[in-house]
Amino acid sequence: MEPIFLSPEQVLAAVPMREAIEAVRQAFVGVSRGEFEVPFRTNLRDGQFLVMATHHIPTATAVVKTMSLNFDGRDPAIVGTVSWNDLHRTGHLLADASAITALRTGAASGVATDLLARPDAATLTVVGSGGQAAMQVRAVCAVRPIAAVILVDRIAERAEALAEVLRREMPVLQIKVCTDVVDAVTDADIICCATTATEPLFPLSALRPDVHVNAIGAFRPTMRELPDDLLADAGVVYIDQQEAILEESGEVIHALASGALDEANLEEIGRALQDTGLRRDGRTVFKTVGIAAQDWAIARLLSERNAATESAHD
Ligand SMILES: NC(=O)c1ccc[n+]([C@@H]2O[C@H](COP(=O)([O-])OP(=O)(O)OC[C@H]3O[C@@H](n4cnc5c(N)ncnc54)[C@H](O)[C@@H]3O)[C@@H](O)[C@H]2O)c1
Repeated sequence: MEPIFLSPEQVLAAVPMREAIEAVRQAFVGVSRGEFEVPFRTNLRDGQFLVMATHHIPTATAVVKTMSLNFDGRDPAIVGTVSWNDLHRTGHLLADASAITALRTGAASGVATDLLARPDAATLTVVGSGGQAAMQVRAVCAVRPIAAVILVDRIAERAEALAEVLRREMPVLQIKVCTDVVDAVTDADIICCATTATEPLFPLSALRPDVHVNAIGAFRPTMRELPDDLLADAGVVYIDQQEAILEESGEVIHALASGALDEANLEEIGRALQDTGLRRDGRTVFKTVGIAAQDWAIARLLSERNAATESAHD
């Protein structure tokens, strides 16, 4: 049987953001329940080539994602393929990794925002206006009544270009562009950090006392978007997966080394999602380096949709 390849457009048309959020929510719970084998990802050329894999034990399905990452102006920065594997079915599904990555990373912020942000949060600031940023906005808008968005990038044209796209798509949103990160975060109820920064993007003192922060950008020990004292102030730092975070999150590694954070303060979001007594208080932080279970969640939806289309054509 010929392999099927889904383009970025086909991926995005098949999986609306709300469904991506629900699928990633279930995957995070599954990770914390031990339903996935999630080995460390393979890093080559200091993170410029990545191979990520996971096996979902209950369904005997697996994904393997291979990517190249070039943040020196290549558009998109992330290029590659997700391969869906099923022990019980024939057929082989391949899909564009750039679209799946942006969708499932947006969805992760959607899950965390839904769990942790104030229910009436209305202002969002996104720092970094590259390949991940649009999905961060779409995801947060899917779970909170956002009225105003500020887009920040050190390259103003990138923020302007993203603003144009989002204004056409969501005309009711008030969208502003800014190049000063501290100005942009000061009044935000929710902040998404989606940069390649190696130093904290803002000081703790710039943030509202009830802000929720999603930090998706740093994925190497040398990268960092958040200051240590924000992690300390939050008390609990919600994360995608403990082992991956301890291996790859520059923020967490730095804060543990400085003594600002203790490993006991890290909590997997999949566990928090099952905690019916969870109460949000003060500033909240979600740090994700991205795990293959998120890719699996989207690839499973694509595989189910593809199977349904095929049987309709029989
Ligand atoms: N956690 C995850 O699951 C996950 C998934 C995908 C990508 N990422 C990471 O997210 C980051 C962004 O990915 P992308 O595809 O959007 O990259 P990109 O290169 O397309 O965009 C990054 C943007 O951040 C801006 N930027 C960098 N440093 C900045 C700073 N200090 N202040 C303001 N703007 C700054 C750049 O100008 C650029 O426009 C990368 O590090 C990537 O590896 C993480």
